[in-house]
Amino acid sequence: QGCSTPTPVARVSQYACQRRTTTENNNKILTDAFEVLAESYELNQLEGPCLAFRRAASVLKSLPWAVQCLGATQGLPCLGEHTKALIEEILQYGHSFEVEKILSDERYQTLKLFTSVFGVGPKTAEKWYRRGLRSFSDILAEPSIQLNRMQQSGFLHYGDISRAVSKAEARALGNIIDEAVHAITPDGILALTGGFRRGKEFGHDVDFIVTTPEQGKEETLLPNIIDRLKEQGILLYSDYQTSTFDISKLPSHKFEAMDHFAKCFLILRLEGSLVDRGLNSTEGDSRGWRAVRVDLVSPPMERYAYALLGWTGSRQFERDLRRFARLEQHMLLDNHALYDKTKKEFLAATTERDIFAHLGLEYIEPWQRNA
Ligand code: TTP
Ligand code: MN
Ligand code: MN
Ligand code: MN
Repeated sequence: QGCSTPTPVARVSQYACQRRTTTENNNKILTDAFEVLAESYELNQLEGPCLAFRRAASVLKSLPWAVQCLGATQGLPCLGEHTKALIEEILQYGHSFEVEKILSDERYQTLKLFTSVFGVGPKTAEKWYRRGLRSFSDILAEPSIQLNRMQQSGFLHYGDISRAVSKAEARALGNIIDEAVHAITPDGILALTGGFRRGKEFGHDVDFIVTTPEQGKEETLLPNIIDRLKEQGILLYSDYQTSTFDISKLPSHKFEAMDHFAKCFLILRLEGSLVDRGLNSTEGDSRGWRAVRVDLVSPPMERYAYALLGWTGSRQFERDLRRFARLEQHMLLDNHALYDKTKKEFLAATTERDIFAHLGLEYIEPWQRNA
């Protein structure tokens, strides 16, 4: 067994935006284990260790080969003592005692279950857990709990929206949104983004950017699309957030994790997706539709490239783009803009390539951003 690094190995960057990471993961056993630990730390609000494990997982995902002995990880960035001990344990025994312990932990299991409901975040999950609730029936039977509209839809469509969305279903939704956009404005622009743009076969939702070259018209685009979907009888849930983006205030613009574009989080009824149900569907119904989560974001045209880059992900890729910009280039990047702190100016971009070039990065294709 070749227990060494395949030679020669180019230096692997500590930044995901300087690595090419396809959907092919040669180290899934290891990265799955790291992600359990990351999630566990996240649920306990320990951001530092959570990020450390996400970074370690991301480095291993980028390798074109499977790690077969600890020696092969020599020289790789972002792997600390804890991750190395885990790698050694998993390579030797096929699993990790620490990971098994977390997976069988009641608190971890319950928080994972609760946060799997659309509209339920870690804080709500924690609150319910502390009140002694352990199952969906516990929650639904608790008279003092007031579910918000989002959570009600989350429970109502739980079975459908917790099942993965296929590429074919994403394409079908693309056609529906495309038709709506062009009926509203013939010069409308629609782009698939998120995980499906990165070439993933399955996703938890489908993400689209919609806009129009007519300045200001993007403001009314989403409400119009929503109305149309409602008229078609396929809108099961809609949470529309108006734009809080003010171009005139750009110089004092704050760089934040959340963007200010108009967006909506939807649940749509997708007809004719029987083919994508498992053959041994236990639901025993013959309905020819399923509920699907769809996200739409509508930036003004001159922000299109930044919005596309920001919404294509992966989250780890985005984190490292921003970290690289800040630490290596003294620039600030978010979903709206790139600011050069040295030159004290905003850098315009019409394509993603422009942004990579501003950052001094080689262009990374969307399907190479699965960090
Ligand atoms: P997601 O749809 O959560 O993730 P994904 O498409 O990568 O994977 P999945 O198959 O699970 O859906 O987010 C896509 C990108 O959108 C992600 O990089 C973060 C970004 N995003 C924002 O920038 N702002 C937002 O408000 C939201 C909701 C997402
Ligand atoms: Mn997505
Ligand atoms: Mn997701
Ligand atoms: Mn999404």
